[in-house]
Amino acid sequence: MKVLVTGSSGLPGRDVLRQLDGRGIPCRGADAPELKVTDSKAVYRLVDEYAPDVIVHCAAYTNVDKAASEPATCAAVNGSGALTMSRAALRVGARLLLLSTAQVFSGEGDRPNPVSAPHGPKNVYAMSMVQAEDAVRSLMTRYYIVRTGSLFGNSKDPVRSVLRAAQDRRSLTLSCDRVVQPTWSKDLARVICDVIATESFGIWHARNSRGACTPAEFAEMVIKKSGVSCQIIPVRDAELPSHVRRPLNGRLAAKLPDGITPMPDLSDALDRYLQEINR
Ligand SMILES: NC(=O)c1ccc[n+]([C@@H]2O[C@H](COP(=O)([O-])OP(=O)(O)OC[C@H]3O[C@@H](n4cnc5c(N)ncnc54)[C@H](OP(=O)(O)O)[C@@H]3O)[C@@H](O)[C@H]2O)c1
Repeated sequence: MKVLVTGSSGLPGRDVLRQLDGRGIPCRGADAPELKVTDSKAVYRLVDEYAPDVIVHCAAYTNVDKAASEPATCAAVNGSGALTMSRAALRVGARLLLLSTAQVFSGEGDRPNPVSAPHGPKNVYAMSMVQAEDAVRSLMTRYYIVRTGSLFGNSKDPVRSVLRAAQDRRSLTLSCDRVVQPTWSKDLARVICDVIATESFGIWHARNSRGACTPAEFAEMVIKKSGVSCQIIPVRDAELPSHVRRPLNGRLAAKLPDGITPMPDLSDALDRYLQEINR
């Protein structure tokens, strides 16, 4: 198996590439500016040349707030980008894994969203990811769509924000009524590599277990586990400065192909992550 990973300098792309490397699976990464997914000729050229068996598509426009003022760019990168990547995959007979998000759901209610729940995007970014999912599903049969929760695993993540705020003696104002599924990107990468080793095509939900919580609760968890001191000011999501609506219920009902080890609990993932960044 030979794997091409797009968005390979981004958080999940980087971890998928490392995981593949660690397993001795031939792989290569591609990212902007070398490979812009909006440049279909460049995409076809690279995919034709490398001829992967699987493309793990992690390249995306992910600035949810900025997307509101750049809807065309966001749709071009995420929606049309996924369409181009699907066409490229079909040209060489590759399977495609699209990494997607809980934001494709409307976020009503308080039950975990099953894989079959209808789309209900609340913002421009979410709409573009719905377009990406629709593009993959309409063109391909040998695809995996893996939706995940709110990722941590790099210097810009919510865990490091809390640690930085504690160091700078700053308080943090965070939502106390929006539920997310914090997930360690490294755990997600393991599952992605397990999934692409199967022929279990379709939609999957991969996130750390027992982890649904609000950003304010997650920050308190980080404070408790790391022993730092930082004041968290909990506010309703609608009171935060961002004018972009995000689904209040980002719970994902876990669903992975048979035989794949379920993802560890969030508490365990956070312990391992804190250990890793404190080394
Ligand atoms: N982060 C999360 O919490 C989260 C949660 C759920 C799902 N996801 C999904 O995970 C995927 C990656 O998102 P992320 O938030 O982790 O983002 P990320 O770390 O910013 O990774 C995205 C990568 O895509 C690249 N990219 C942007 N525009 C591109 C273009 N036109 N052509 C080629 N590459 C381009 C970015 O490069 P530049 O940095 O140079 O722009 C970056 O390396 C997305 O599909 C997203 O829906 C993420």
